[in-house]
Amino acid sequence: MSFHILGTGSYVPPVVVTNDDLAKIVETNDEWITTRTGIRRRHVAVDETTSEMAAKAASAALENSGVSADELDLILCATVSGDYICPNMACLVQRAIGAACPAFDLNGACSAFLLLLETAAAYLSTGRYRKILCVGAEQMSRILDWTDRSTCILFGDGAAGVVLEPGENYLGSQLVFRGSEELLNLPTSTGTFPGSRLEAQHPYVYMNGSEVYKFATRIVPQAIQQLLDKTGTPQSDVAWVVCHQANRRIIEAAARRLKDIADEKFLINIEDYGNTSAASIPLLLDECNRAGTFKKGDLIVLAAFGGGLSCVAALIRW
Ligand code: COA
Repeated sequence: MSFHILGTGSYVPPVVVTNDDLAKIVETNDEWITTRTGIRRRHVAVDETTSEMAAKAASAALENSGVSADELDLILCATVSGDYICPNMACLVQRAIGAACPAFDLNGACSAFLLLLETAAAYLSTGRYRKILCVGAEQMSRILDWTDRSTCILFGDGAAGVVLEPGENYLGSQLVFRGSEELLNLPTSTGTFPGSRLEAQHPYVYMNGSEVYKFATRIVPQAIQQLLDKTGTPQSDVAWVVCHQANRRIIEAAARRLKDIADEKFLINIEDYGNTSAASIPLLLDECNRAGTFKKGDLIVLAAFGGGLSCVAALIRW
């Protein structure tokens, strides 16, 4: 037994920053950003915190599921841009929505939402819990260096999640981890102890874009194929692919390698949101759920990659 998705929800802050707006801050232009990434605009939280966005997404997911906060047995959250390192975001969401259940976070950067699903599947399989809320939320705008045009144009803010109950619709997963901080990292505070050998670090997202790009274009199609092989699923049976929205070209490269999955099955909303890290996959899931894109029984591949380095692919039945 694994899980069934009861409902989805999302929230994005109202302020929209276009590529032209960014061109007023750093040396860039709409044409460069659009052709290299597929991003046209992103939402930025100026009045809200990450946990406030997460709580709004959680409430939307509960409403869509017909589940009340006091029915929840567990809240799992993921963020790299939470209000605090401690308390974790899940505890703040728990309080905000009026739940009383255990609540904790997992740290997995852009792959984190799929790690929440993997963890929830394990808990639900044991019968220990019956209703689990999973939420990914990010205020990436707070952890970016807005003078660095190679990173600040890529990300956006938002939150989204799902409510799960025991079921048969989590069909398998493929987890690939390559421990390394060189290509992608977000430093923590180094403290002020005078004798510390640690130098204060630039406290913003650091990324070697072209190397992360190479990693992603190789690992994503590979992990998806391994997932399909291990679940005995022909590419042609896949109804939809919901990829982490980091760069349209990465998704198109994966589509080219997975030849029997038609290009139009790779769903894309990066144009409007940029890379929202842990919120990226549930945001697209919620958008498609509310638009009626998914039909009951559809086989959907979910695929994420990011800091770790990591790549997680999962197969679900809608
Ligand atoms: N506007 C204009 N020019 C820019 C720019 C911007 N916002 N950012 C970088 N450039 C310049 C660079 O300085 C470089 O100039 P140079 O050739 O004079 O040195 C040039 O554009 C090309 O840079 P490059 O890094 O080779 O571009 P790219 O084609 O690799 O695209 C990324 C850059 C970041 C879009 C791409 O590498 C990428 O998407 N990487 C993966 C990022 C990702 O997925 N991250 C999330 C992981 S979860």
